[in-house]
Amino acid sequence: KITSIDAYQIFDSRGQPTVEAVVGLENGMEGIGLVPSGASTGQFEALELRDNNAKCFAGKSVYQAITNIKTELSTLVIGMDVHQQRQIDEAMIALDGTQNKSRLGANAILGISLAVADASAKANHKPLFANLVDDDFGSLIPLPEIQLVGGGAHAHWRTDIQDFLIIANGASSYEQTLEVTYNVYHAGEAILRERGLLAGCADEGGFWPSFDNHEAIFSFVVEAIEAAGYVPGKEVSISLDIAASDLYRDGRYHLPLDKKDYSSEQFYALILDWCQRYPVLSIEDPFADTDFEMWQKLTLEIGDKVQIIGDDLFTTNLKLIEKGIAQKMANSVLIKLNQIGSVSETIDAIRLTQKAGWLPVVSARSGETEDAFISHLAVATNAGQLKVGSFTRSERMVKWNECIRIARKLGDDARFVGGDIYQALKS
Ligand code: PGA
Ligand code: ZN
Repeated sequence: KITSIDAYQIFDSRGQPTVEAVVGLENGMEGIGLVPSGASTGQFEALELRDNNAKCFAGKSVYQAITNIKTELSTLVIGMDVHQQRQIDEAMIALDGTQNKSRLGANAILGISLAVADASAKANHKPLFANLVDDDFGSLIPLPEIQLVGGGAHAHWRTDIQDFLIIANGASSYEQTLEVTYNVYHAGEAILRERGLLAGCADEGGFWPSFDNHEAIFSFVVEAIEAAGYVPGKEVSISLDIAASDLYRDGRYHLPLDKKDYSSEQFYALILDWCQRYPVLSIEDPFADTDFEMWQKLTLEIGDKVQIIGDDLFTTNLKLIEKGIAQKMANSVLIKLNQIGSVSETIDAIRLTQKAGWLPVVSARSGETEDAFISHLAVATNAGQLKVGSFTRSERMVKWNECIRIARKLGDDARFVGGDIYQALKS
């Protein structure tokens, strides 16, 4: 039984306020929930409640969400069975009463939801990944998708494309993916340093270089892979997060870095061209979240070879994912807990994706915390892929490191399929 709930304001990796909730049990055990926060958010995401008082943390404080936890939500949840995650999540959603959790705040509801999951695992004396799903828990250690260059909303628009990431698709173990990433990362840094192109560090820890155009970034990534001694495409591939909704205005895609803008058809041609000339294995949000026809066209054209991920397109929302599956808009779904706002709905979104033969990619946000819940979520559900940002900074590394710990706990039961996960695209 849940006997107490506490909540207070903590700070995320950008130093912005966020919610931490603590659920207490009658045996004295406690579970904790730390809520992340995005910057390039999708328009259909559940609402992150902020106080919008300009005099307090520039409007970003979350005291109202915390008050909602300590009043209405506590009254509802105290006394409930901590092992009934779904029942608790559904009750909170019903109490909120809105489609997008805008009355009580998705950050308030998710804080409790995460803390309940943590408390339930502790009460059962199990690691989180072994207690998170109702059915048999998973054992698949995810293939990492790791950011090399950060841009867009995460680096003051120094580049328009948000993420240039790498996937060690040729690696035969999780440890090897990290070693490959380490080598490419440091080879890349040496190149940028030598050319005087290092301008800083983006929000997710990736390089924030001063390139003159996107073509130069593609060349740089390929060069870094080769300088580290790997074969582009075969051993290490490129993954892109275009975050195209942020580029789309007045029916056109704007790329100021290239001093160009594109119609949907022209942007489609550009994306296809990039995928043909560079070893692109995965591409996220290639089009705006309303430009459905282009999504369908790209999926039909290259969906058997390239992972096409909907992030802002689906916002981890079951109804939007269902529609996307019916209309063949993509072949993969980015999974972010705080886009939808509860643990149960997030697991449902992963299951729906998998049932359709699509690939889920469990993801962090650009504003992260020192928590590693998503590593457990990825393994528990056999999601197969994890996207956490770069290979630096502890709010990122804690997720990569936690997968090492989980694999050790699983021992001989731990599985890794790596790049073979993309075989699913062919069927
Ligand atoms: P966000 O970025 O957390 O700022 O939304 C991550 C992403 O777009 O995948
Ligand atoms: Zn994205």
